[in-house]
Amino acid sequence: MWFDSHCHLNDEAFKEDLRAVIDETLQAGVSGMMVVGYDLPSSIRAIELAAAYNMIWAAVGLHPHDAKDWGPEVRHELEQLLKEPKVKALGEIGLDYHYDYSPRDAQRRAFRELLELAGEYGKPVIIHNREAHGDTLQILSETGVPDAGGVMHCFSGSKETATACIKKGLYISFAGPLTFKNARNLAEVAVDVPLDKILIETDAPYLAPHPFRGERNRPGMVPLVGKKLAELKNLAVETVMEATFRNSRNLFKLDVIEHETDA
Ligand code: NI
Repeated sequence: MWFDSHCHLNDEAFKEDLRAVIDETLQAGVSGMMVVGYDLPSSIRAIELAAAYNMIWAAVGLHPHDAKDWGPEVRHELEQLLKEPKVKALGEIGLDYHYDYSPRDAQRRAFRELLELAGEYGKPVIIHNREAHGDTLQILSETGVPDAGGVMHCFSGSKETATACIKKGLYISFAGPLTFKNARNLAEVAVDVPLDKILIETDAPYLAPHPFRGERNRPGMVPLVGKKLAELKNLAVETVMEATFRNSRNLFKLDVIEHETDA
């Protein structure tokens, strides 16, 4: 059984054929996934999906693209959402200096305050970091990682950044780019990071793995990331599958809720 630690089935891209995509996911041996919010509507949608499907859990958050919207009102709304039973993380949050859709000072402020909010609610964080490695690490050092930990989603940094994140109590999550032909640096990072600190994800509908690059990504493609990781680390696919599943369950504390849903 595989676990997709980060996907956006709450995205418009899945509006028309969600049921078919979920069937395909199950057929691919993927038995759990975290649907991640990036603003209030997508966070609410993630919760709806988690309520409708046993195999889905939800994260609620505000993407750095929308950090300009951060303030008391959004905070209040997110706090309500964080109380929902299948909400297992705060995310995605972070910094994106590639697109700069929100001013960088607004991004940094939102990131700091959202890290604190996660701490208050005892939730792990899902962190988006694009071309902002220095500031991300600095804020994580100053504000601190919540006790519940977190994950660097779709990791794209260096070995040194990965090591620094792991020291702070974070997991490293690899996505489709690990399978790309030009992914030599990322492959070296993946070899270096201990298996018990790794999650895998699709970030669907974005970043479909090789050989589907450019297509709409789906959670059913997460085994391709896991298989690439097994190849790079010279491990059995089964070993990588079990470890990444276990790591996801540990980070998101999924044991408890599984019993609750079964009852
Ligand atoms: Ni994402």
